[in-house]
Amino acid sequence: MAHAHDDADVTRRDFIYVAASGMTAAGAVATAIPFIDQMNPARDTLALATTEVDLASVTPGQSITVMWRKKPVFVRRRTPEEIKAAQDVPVDALPDPQADSARVQSGKEEWLVVLANCTHLGCVPDKGNKGEFGGWLCPCHGSHYDTSGRIRKGPAPLNLAVPEFRFISDTKIVIGEAPAPAATTTEGA
Ligand code: FES
Repeated sequence: MAHAHDDADVTRRDFIYVAASGMTAAGAVATAIPFIDQMNPARDTLALATTEVDLASVTPGQSITVMWRKKPVFVRRRTPEEIKAAQDVPVDALPDPQADSARVQSGKEEWLVVLANCTHLGCVPDKGNKGEFGGWLCPCHGSHYDTSGRIRKGPAPLNLAVPEFRFISDTKIVIGEAPAPAATTTEGA
């Protein structure tokens, strides 16, 4: 079982890294400063600031893991049943009350993007075990997350965190960038 400080080992051993790469902008910055000390942490941080993910090969019901800022992130393509299960839960009954609509993007409800570290002690939940609520089970101490990545049972105090991400096409997202603002209309004004 992996802890947050074992990210590097976890990545090598367990994770599928799916078509993810640093963004061009970050690469350009790195190219512009080639003579800076290679140990400079700022350069490393810049290169990992955003991660582009190709969603084309992700099938309904599948969850993949990508790396963003050296942290694992689950990208899950939810089935209609999983979306409905997430939407039907009374928010007030949740340990960390948050509506599903606040955790996904409008019109893109099938895509759930969450940091993969359990909010108890930072372990990475088991992708192969969906737990009692259809999401993920962190077997370290038995935290169960639902199909919205919300904590439903066990010692974890909070939902899996949702990072900023933006769709740059129907099948690609960039994690680490704010979503495009919703379109506005002056119709009827
Ligand atoms: S770290 Fe996940 S339940 Fe303890």
